[in-house]
Amino acid sequence: MTSTNVLTIDTINPHVRTAEYAVRGVIPQRAEQYRATLAKGEGKDLPFDQVIFANIGNPQQLDQKPITFFRQVVSLLEWPDLLEKEDALIGLGYKKDAIARARTLLKEVKSVGAYSNSSGAPGIKQSVADFIERRDGYSADPAHIYLSAGASSGVNTLLNVISSSPSTGILVPIPQYPLYTATLAVLNTKCVPYYLDESKAWGTNLEIIKKSLDDARAEGTEVKAIVIINPGNPTGASLSEDDVKAVLKLAAEEKLVVMADEVYQTNVFIGKFSSFKKCLRDLQKEESGKYDHIELASLHSVSKGMVGECGHRGGYFELVGFDPKVEAEIYKFISIMLCPPVVGQCMVELMTNPPKEGEESYEQYKQEYDGTYEGLKKRANALFDAFKKMEGVSCQDPQGAMYLFPSITLPQKAQEAAKEEKMSADQFYCIKLLDSTGICVIPGSGFGQAEGTLHFRTTFLPPGTEWVGRIADFHKKFMDEYR
Ligand SMILES: Cc1ncc(COP(=O)(O)O)c(C=O)c1O
Repeated sequence: MTSTNVLTIDTINPHVRTAEYAVRGVIPQRAEQYRATLAKGEGKDLPFDQVIFANIGNPQQLDQKPITFFRQVVSLLEWPDLLEKEDALIGLGYKKDAIARARTLLKEVKSVGAYSNSSGAPGIKQSVADFIERRDGYSADPAHIYLSAGASSGVNTLLNVISSSPSTGILVPIPQYPLYTATLAVLNTKCVPYYLDESKAWGTNLEIIKKSLDDARAEGTEVKAIVIINPGNPTGASLSEDDVKAVLKLAAEEKLVVMADEVYQTNVFIGKFSSFKKCLRDLQKEESGKYDHIELASLHSVSKGMVGECGHRGGYFELVGFDPKVEAEIYKFISIMLCPPVVGQCMVELMTNPPKEGEESYEQYKQEYDGTYEGLKKRANALFDAFKKMEGVSCQDPQGAMYLFPSITLPQKAQEAAKEEKMSADQFYCIKLLDSTGICVIPGSGFGQAEGTLHFRTTFLPPGTEWVGRIADFHKKFMDEYR
């Protein structure tokens, strides 16, 4: 680099500089350095011999097994010549329905090396619509389904289209997954935070939302949309049907577009998932005309749940109630990127149209799916039990998603030590945890938290439960040291 560089930290887009994305920030980078040191056979003086990445919901990096049926199909999509050798495939353990599905998908996309339609291959959008209809009991129209490169790209599309000027505001839950605040920062759009209610298992509190909305509007912000993450990241909260309907009612009264991020819809341990789409259709049926004008975008992904195929970058969003001219602009926006990855689209098809009872792959699919679900639930509860026993730590019941977000009360001495190191107290705690145990978690400040509170977020994805005990041991020593 020379002083004549055109691009310097001062000349790049300042909005990129402003954006923050803690789940891949300083602490995970330090964890990665530890991992690389250990991989080289160095770091004998470290107090751990393995790094546990509990910082990000990346299931297969943490040994969640892919679903066999999905991978059998995808392997054939990648090398269709194998379909000429069906007997050999069966000898290798491929099931006939996997072979048949690969043939159907290849007919649909021709080759996974070819671009598809910008909103996704029509047959795959039909599978998504059928899935939504089975899930909600209300029809879905493939014309309003847009496949995307993971839910992230769908969020990016929607926020870009909604952000018409720097005075546009979007209501975002706090704590939140930093995709939202980071994208809004890049777009120079106002994030209008509304706090989730920790005392009510991190649920939505309408009074709080309304106050944030009114305050923002009073300051001249044109609040156009509300983001809801259900089940929640980082909180793990799962909203009841009544909570979802209450948000929809507010959106109808206040004229807000609803963006429902539902990527964790199958990661629910307590109660049952209620989609915004279903709740909207229920409301529309109950009170004719009153909710017809709501604009709802709901997002889903292959990255989470028992699928966990984040690396394949597949997802979709469904639009309800959008003006056709706006939809045409959304279509144009996504077409600038040509199309989402075609293998990712096929993953979406497999997720939304998995083997059915009676089909050859069904038993194995169900066994793998249930095994992963039970494993996640067991680890969530093991972590929760450990947190319950830790001094100054309180945690909501594990309801859903892949995370726990305990609140921590740290001794004054620890807070002062953090200040001396120019860190927030939760960051200080998380760095000490990493340095002592190799376990990487993210401080609550990376997601936003109410003033005066401290938290950290951990996934419960890492295999086994031994590492949970290591957090408890560290915590005790930390508290004793700073008491
Ligand atoms: C709430 C939420 N939305 C969206 C995403 C992005 O998922 P994808 O991999 O589908 O882009 C994540 C990833 O962790 C998430 O937690």
